Amino acid sequence: MRMSWVLTVVLFSASALAKKTEPRSVKGELVICSENDAVDLVFLLDASKSVGFKNYGRVVGFVQDFVNVYEIGPGHTRIGLVYFSVKATKYMGLADFADKQAILDHIGLMSEKTFKNELGGRTNTSGGLAVVHSVFHASPRTETDAKMVILISDGKPNSDKELTVPNADKLKADGIQIMTIGVGNSIRRDNLELIASEPFDSYVFTTKNFNDLISKTQELIATACKNVEYLKCPPHERSMQILAEQHAAIDEAIADLQNAKDLLWELDHRCNVNPCPSCFVRNDDFKSCYIFVAETVSWADADRLCARLYGARLASLNSAEEFNYIKGEPFNDSGVASSGIDKWWISGNDLMERGTLMWAGDGHSVKVDVTGDPDTGRCVFLDGAHNLRMTRGACGVAHGFVCERGF
Ligand SMILES: *[C@@H]1O[C@H](CO)[C@@H](O)[C@H](O)[C@H]1NC(C)=O
Ligand SMILES: *[C@@H]1O[C@H](CO)[C@@H](O)[C@H](O)[C@H]1NC(C)=O
Repeated sequence: MRMSWVLTVVLFSASALAKKTEPRSVKGELVICSENDAVDLVFLLDASKSVGFKNYGRVVGFVQDFVNVYEIGPGHTRIGLVYFSVKATKYMGLADFADKQAILDHIGLMSEKTFKNELGGRTNTSGGLAVVHSVFHASPRTETDAKMVILISDGKPNSDKELTVPNADKLKADGIQIMTIGVGNSIRRDNLELIASEPFDSYVFTTKNFNDLISKTQELIATACKNVEYLKCPPHERSMQILAEQHAAIDEAIADLQNAKDLLWELDHRCNVNPCPSCFVRNDDFKSCYIFVAETVSWADADRLCARLYGARLASLNSAEEFNYIKGEPFNDSGVASSGIDKWWISGNDLMERGTLMWAGDGHSVKVDVTGDPDTGRCVFLDGAHNLRMTRGACGVAHGFVCERGF
């Protein structure tokens, strides 16, 4: 089934506006790194002899340019660095330096002559990946937008090479994204694809040589930033792909409730890095975050999209307080009105037992008033024409929807 719609997310709000940052211009190019990004970024550098000392200096410059884009600090981005040849060495842990200049200086030391002796004869990529893993584990933090490794290598793994894929998989299993940059002819795209995260378009790069690497710096920085944006708010194509994969008739809605639960777990490694994806509005009283998604789909598809896109569920508005919160600021200015959509699915439904409305999102029964015809309406939406009154409607009808993610 072909989907031709575009998913639009309504994302203005007091807090979202406060967090919003303009795209920044780096050396004339538009880069969408948000200054508020909290990324844990570890560089994994090939220091085998084939790279050569001169080229290693270029890599060091490349890394410094990269680091320069980020706001550095405990609440912001943290940088680590590991290099490998025969063995792998942790050069800098994520919590070693709290300011940018200190990090840049420390990285710069690697282009000093004394470092020449560190360049070794083998390409122990797997060892590098293992040390990266320990670097992440040595300095965990809960509030990150993304955890990412950038591997720069000029050769195929040739030492403990059978551990390369398992060690890369271990990182990925912990929600760490691996971006790979292969330099020169000795390392091919398919070598990198064994290590890199997907989609490969965003995580696998090759360059002809080290000069070419330098000339692609801005492009690679922009891609890394986009990958972070993607993790925070997955873009439209993905939702279409998901719907195409997962499309199901309303009869399957009940089974989908379990599916959505499983998907939550599946997505957890991605979404759990931050309690609220940055496009959500966070509320600490209800320990939840919310988003109005201005695309119209059936109730079941809406619940599935909340799960697939955000590790969330359709919203469960358990109390009058929570209901009032959803009706008021900060959603007033959120573009909900200008979206042209006036009905928004939430998680209430009686699909399990006719006549007994339950919140699919948290399994509690619905205790607040819901208007509408119980015979024809088995799913609950907020009716914008009546001050977002909770109303029952036919589950198959396409409405916008509200996702909620608890923390
Ligand atoms: C590869 O690197 C790891 C990490 O430093 C090390 O433990 C391992 O012994 C190395 N492998 C070889 C064959 O030297
Ligand atoms: C939000 O909308 C409600 C209903 O129209 C209104 O009573 C309330 O004052 C609005 N709040 C803000 C902050 O605009």
